Amino acid sequence: MAPTRVGPPDQETVRNALRGVIDPELGDNVVDLEMVRSVEVGEDGQVVVEVALTIAGCPLRTQLRDDVTARVGAVPGVAGVKVRMGEMNPDERSALMARARWRAREGAPVTEIPARTRVVAIASGKGGVGKSSVTANLAAALAGLGLTVGVLDADIWGFSIPRMLGLEGRISGERTEAGPKIIPLEKRIGTGLLKVVSMGFLAGEDEAIMWRGLMLNRAVQHFLEDVRWGDMDYLLIDMPPGTGDVQMGLARMLPRTELLVVTTPPLAAQLVATRVVDMARKGFLRVAGVVENMSAFTCEHGTAYPLFGSGGGERLAGEVGVPLIGSVPLDPAVAAGGDAGSPVVLAGDSPVADAFVAIAKKLVTEVSPVVEMSGCTARMMERVEAALDAKP
Ligand SMILES: Nc1ncnc2c1ncn2[C@@H]1O[C@H](COP(=O)(O)OP(=O)(O)OP(=O)(O)O)[C@@H](O)[C@H]1O
Ligand SMILES: [Mg+2]
Repeated sequence: MAPTRVGPPDQETVRNALRGVIDPELGDNVVDLEMVRSVEVGEDGQVVVEVALTIAGCPLRTQLRDDVTARVGAVPGVAGVKVRMGEMNPDERSALMARARWRAREGAPVTEIPARTRVVAIASGKGGVGKSSVTANLAAALAGLGLTVGVLDADIWGFSIPRMLGLEGRISGERTEAGPKIIPLEKRIGTGLLKVVSMGFLAGEDEAIMWRGLMLNRAVQHFLEDVRWGDMDYLLIDMPPGTGDVQMGLARMLPRTELLVVTTPPLAAQLVATRVVDMARKGFLRVAGVVENMSAFTCEHGTAYPLFGSGGGERLAGEVGVPLIGSVPLDPAVAAGGDAGSPVVLAGDSPVADAFVAIAKKLVTEVSPVVEMSGCTARMMERVEAALDAKP
């Protein structure tokens, strides 16, 4: 399938995409914080973005640069991205702090997801390709690395996360000043922690019927706004099959969400998968990469059987221009682990466990690195706040 040629985007489209770039310390996107000084779009699709940093030596500099490049690079028609980093003068800086402070207060945070949390949605073009299995194993692998990982089961009607992670019970609520909040169920894995929310923890028979009347999107919104997530390195969202509703909702509510697209090896599968990618781009969600699932099954004698064909993941990644983050072999242990509530990755010592660990490591080191809060504006903000508060 030849990629369709599109002309260069207009400035507004690029600015919209930049709303997906969050300054994790200031807790808002770089456009609304007015950190974007200029956007130039060339006839040839080359885009130059100038971002003004609070201080030039900000440790988040590289991350902001990467995020801007990734977000803008994902806009159709963009051929290349150049990021120029400027530094604010003291007046601009205090104006920014005042704005951040005002937005934090008046603009009330829309979701309960901390600004520094990386949000990764696991999606696919069609059902049954292993989204939930990838979510559960990736979450367990990340927690195994000592990270705190939220799992939002956005498959409201067909939830499978509770069973796959071996969690049962009902989530409790807590009254807070901001209204009642849901507390996720937790599971320790090594030094890491999973925080999980699913309809499976809410749905008694009656409740399930009541919830079915709710729009899918409203339910997901509820999980984003009314769950007391607390601090997290990652939030993984297990997407329901098919529908674009949730994707569009996430683009609106949590535009920094990045998509991992799961596909199966047959070349035909990537046709369906490219549709998800198209949809993501229209809603300006960044597609972070492709995971191929159910690739060649290797028998005990070491012979590989590509039961479902091969090459689909590679082809899709190439076509979309994102990395193939990993291939997970077909292995009955994935299904058995899912049924037993113990993700196969935790058993270790198998090609399939290794594949999940490799994907987790790649996510952490390359694709969507953990945000370290070491430094610059957070401390500075405290000082500025103190100074502002001291003023009559
Ligand atoms: N690599 C694998 N090897 C063997 N079985 C697998 C593998 N990945 C997933 N499965 C099995 O395939 C089935 C579908 O997987 P899963 O439920 O994760 O897919 P899904 O994309 O989340 O489905 P849905 O679209 O219904 O939400 C499950 O029974 C699961 O155990
Ligand atoms: Mg599923």
